[in-house]
Amino acid sequence: MEIKLTLLPGDGIGPEIVTEARKVLDVVANRFGHTLYYNTQLIGGIAIDETGDPLPEETLGACLQSDAVLLGAVGGPKWDDPKAAVRPEQGLLRIRKELGVFANLRPVKVFEALAEASPLKTERVRGVDIMFVRELTGDLYFGTPRGREIVNGKRVGFNTMRYDEDEIARVMRIGFELARQRRGKLASVDKANVLETMRVWREVAHEVAQEYPDVQYEDLLVDAMAMYLINRPSDFDVVVTGNMFGDILSDEASMITGSLGMLPSASIGADGSIGLYEPIHGSAPDIAGKGIANPLATILSGAMLLRWSLGLHAEAEAVETAVAQVLAAGHRTGDIAAGGKALGTAEMGDKVCEALG
Ligand code: IPM
Ligand code: MG
Repeated sequence: MEIKLTLLPGDGIGPEIVTEARKVLDVVANRFGHTLYYNTQLIGGIAIDETGDPLPEETLGACLQSDAVLLGAVGGPKWDDPKAAVRPEQGLLRIRKELGVFANLRPVKVFEALAEASPLKTERVRGVDIMFVRELTGDLYFGTPRGREIVNGKRVGFNTMRYDEDEIARVMRIGFELARQRRGKLASVDKANVLETMRVWREVAHEVAQEYPDVQYEDLLVDAMAMYLINRPSDFDVVVTGNMFGDILSDEASMITGSLGMLPSASIGADGSIGLYEPIHGSAPDIAGKGIANPLATILSGAMLLRWSLGLHAEAEAVETAVAQVLAAGHRTGDIAAGGKALGTAEMGDKVCEALG
């Protein structure tokens, strides 16, 4: 297979971790007889510095012409001024919107070898295997009106939580289809006790649930869910959330696995749309350029890319198995080393390549 990928390394640790994911993709492509063509483009803060635009036209054009997009991270203190007119994050939100990737899949799976690395009790996290489906192109992130103004001499900021029924139904269907292929359970997270948006969310969720009588469905309020993720994480299979709640809960859930540095994601849209793959963590400016970041979330995002955009299931599994083997052999980056010996970013990438070899 000939595969065209756009790489968007972005800011902070982004370039370091994308380099490792690329190394791994090269090895897997070689082993299975595929040819990969890369086009590396600017996004985020570095794109603002070089072009003034966090998502330059050239970047978008390249993404639209590729089979899939692999992104590192965007943002950093340099572009963090709350008064700045353009922000790196706008590039990320726009690429998600432009590609139409409305469903963000964030698997939270505990590698057996890392169960001890979780801040939660080992017996509680063992066997956790949740698939978060976070809606990605609506909600407070995109709703209008939004902005800031002066009212009676006071600064006021406002955003709009907004969903229409089609946006809810399509992401729910992705969740239900996944639940069918998994353990047949789906939890929909909302705040229907307070917010109108979320009452529509729940109503539509119930309608879609009727189409999937074989899937065991439940509604959960977001505040309760924040609690259940800590005290009974292994009860959940597929969890569907809106954009804002999913952003928060998925960071929380990453702690179950021991580190934010372990969690990949896949953003997908309607059939035929170009998928976007990125670790769920940010640009970690505090450790950028030091060669110590954990590349596994990005490497695992590469595996998701193989599976979801290219249908290369054996290849995706090979990468995931290699990561599990490397962890089982005791190799760790600093974030999961618990004070023990830590490998650098490139060394960890090499270990995964060797395991694939
Ligand atoms: C994420 C990130 C982004 C988000 C930021 C960087 C805009 O936190 O992918 O979870 O809020 O979606
Ligand atoms: Mg986030």
